[in-house]
Amino acid sequence: MEQSYESISWQEDHLVILDQTQLPLREIYSDIHTIGQVWDAIKKLKVRGAPAIGIAGAYGLYLGVRELESKNFTSFNVELNRWIEYLKTSRPTAVNLSWALERINQTVYANKDKPLDEVKKIMLQTAKTIHDEDKRVCKQIGENGAELVEKEANILTHCNTGALATGAYGTAFSVILHAHQQEKDIHVWADETRPLLQGARLTSWELKKAEIPFHLITDSSAGALMNTGKVDMVIVGADRVAANGDTANKIGTYSLAVLAKENDIPFYVALPLSTFDLETETGEEIEIEEREPEEVTHIAKSPITPKKTDAYNPAFDVTPNKYITGFITEKGIVEPDFKENIAALFK
Ligand code: MRU
Repeated sequence: MEQSYESISWQEDHLVILDQTQLPLREIYSDIHTIGQVWDAIKKLKVRGAPAIGIAGAYGLYLGVRELESKNFTSFNVELNRWIEYLKTSRPTAVNLSWALERINQTVYANKDKPLDEVKKIMLQTAKTIHDEDKRVCKQIGENGAELVEKEANILTHCNTGALATGAYGTAFSVILHAHQQEKDIHVWADETRPLLQGARLTSWELKKAEIPFHLITDSSAGALMNTGKVDMVIVGADRVAANGDTANKIGTYSLAVLAKENDIPFYVALPLSTFDLETETGEEIEIEEREPEEVTHIAKSPITPKKTDAYNPAFDVTPNKYITGFITEKGIVEPDFKENIAALFK
C-alpha cells in the first residue's frame, strides 16, 4: 500500500516539502535549506497537519544548529534553546511540534559529552527516526481503526488527515485507507473545511489518488446528512488532546461531534501518542491559533466580501471529551474513562 507522494523528505543535506498551498492545481516540491524557511513553511501551511509539523520542525532544528560554530556545549545549548523557542512560535496548537523539538533536546542533553559535530549528526538521526516512526505508527493506527469500520460504511471526515499531514498514510485517513484496502466498500463524505479548504483541496486529492469513493460536501451539509441516516461514523484527526480527552482539531470539529451525538453516530478521533499532551489537563488550557482575517474574506486571494469587512478566524476548536466515542491510536482503541485510559497508554 505504497503512496506515490511524500509531504516531507530528507535529501542528502536538505529538506524537500510538497507545497500544500499549491495543491491540487500544482504539485510543487520546494527545497528547504534553513530553519527560517522551515518556520515560514509551517506558518504559511506549506507543510501542515500535526504530525507533519512535528517532523518538519525536527529537521528544521537540525538545519538551525548545523551552521553553529559554538566552542562548547554551554553556548551550543543556549543557541539550541533559542531555535527551539523560535520554531514553537510558528504555530501554537499542534503539540507534535513541541513534542518533536523536546525529544531532540533530550537526545542532545543525553549526548552532551560528545563532540558537537557528533551531537549535530545525532540530531539529524533523531529527526529521521521521528519521521520513520510516524510512518509506522500511522500504519498501525489505520490497521487498528479499520476494525471499527463496518462493511459499506459511510464515513464523514473533516480537514485533511492523510499522508500529506503525516509521515505516511495519515491518521483518520489511514483508517479510511485501510478499510478501503480491506474491500469494505466504504464511501467517504469529505467536508470542504472552510476557510482554507483542506478537505476540498487536499483530502479530495488524496482520496482520488487512493481511488476511494467519496463526495465532497460543504461543511454546513454535515448535519443534514447525519439527520437523514447518510452517515455511519465520523473519524477526524487531532492537533492536541488534553489528559482528560478534550480534543483540539480543525475548526468545525466540535459542531460535528455535537451533531454526531445528537444523531447517535459514533465519533472517533484518530491520532498518534505524540498528539496527547498529558501536561494539559483539560481543553480549556489549549491555545487556539488565530489566523489572518483575509483567509475568511478571500478565497484563493480573491476578495469575496465588501472591502474592510472584519472577520474572526480561529483555526481550531476544542471538542469536550463527552462527545467522543473513542480514540484510535497505534496502541489500540481508547474508550472512556478517558482520563484513566489515556494515562494508561503512557505507562
Ligand atoms: O491547519 P491544519 O491544516 O494544519 O490543521 C490540520 C488538522 O486540523 C488535522 O485534523 C490535524 O492536524 C490532524 S492531521 C493528521
